[in-house]
Amino acid sequence: MTVFTHAHELIRTIKEVTEEGISMINSEKTTETLAAIGRRSSINPRVGIILGSGLGAVADHIENSVAIPYEEIPYWPRTTAVGHAGRLVLGTLEGVPVVAMQGRVHYYEGYSMDEVTFPVRIFGELGVGTLVATNAAGGINLGYRPGDLVAVYDHINHMGTNPLIGTNDEKWGSRFPDMTYAYDREYIEALENAARDEKIVLRKGVYIAFSGPSYETPAEIRMARAMGADLVGMSTVPEVIVANHMGIRVAAISCVANYAAGIKSEKLSHQEVLDGMARAADSMVRLTRAFIRSMPKRA
Ligand code: HPA
Repeated sequence: MTVFTHAHELIRTIKEVTEEGISMINSEKTTETLAAIGRRSSINPRVGIILGSGLGAVADHIENSVAIPYEEIPYWPRTTAVGHAGRLVLGTLEGVPVVAMQGRVHYYEGYSMDEVTFPVRIFGELGVGTLVATNAAGGINLGYRPGDLVAVYDHINHMGTNPLIGTNDEKWGSRFPDMTYAYDREYIEALENAARDEKIVLRKGVYIAFSGPSYETPAEIRMARAMGADLVGMSTVPEVIVANHMGIRVAAISCVANYAAGIKSEKLSHQEVLDGMARAADSMVRLTRAFIRSMPKRA
């Protein structure tokens, strides 16, 4: 019993220290991280890309690339999720300087919201003006099929928290950032044009984020549908909020990996999600590249 109490206390202490350490990260404290990245690559990325489960293939097309494992970057959170590589890749994609996260971290892994969104802060500090966020999602909209790609045009934050809670660093953004156009209207149009060029069917939808890691219940999915959600996932929303806070314009693409809970009688499994993603990876790569190609070559 004593041993258990001690272990329990130790874990709590470690957690508190970690949380305090990370929540102290603000615009003054990213210097170390930026210096470490700067030592490996001299690129000034214009676009930041976050590659979700099974979507890491986009990074394979980055030219003149430098890949830095997350563990070699100070303060960078490590991925623990299956299907996430855990490397930061800098280089050019379609002639545009980019920085890509091959694998993201999730709130359900036990990271604080500050940690989950720390990479987006670094993107902003690196001068990124555009965030392309990708993810695997469950399809709530009854018209969606696994393998469909969806341009996210709005979200519902159902994670029970917000990455901007805490002291606001005015250097990064305002206390109460507007979220009316959290998903840039021009980028949605550019994604639609890119999809047309690539002959990819692209839907538009509202993404709802739950914390996970348990999948939703059928009742939660019915609730989410009634609330106006088309897609469900466990990521993206924190990153998009922080990007908006920093004035970074966002394009987000979801890949429908599976039918959300209760739509079919089968149970959900992570394997089903990964299989669904494997089917869509190729069109996700083509869509992302075509979108980046459509961007003006100079800011
Ligand atoms: N629910 C939540 N997150 C997900 C799902 C889902 O059905 N599929 C892929 N990510």
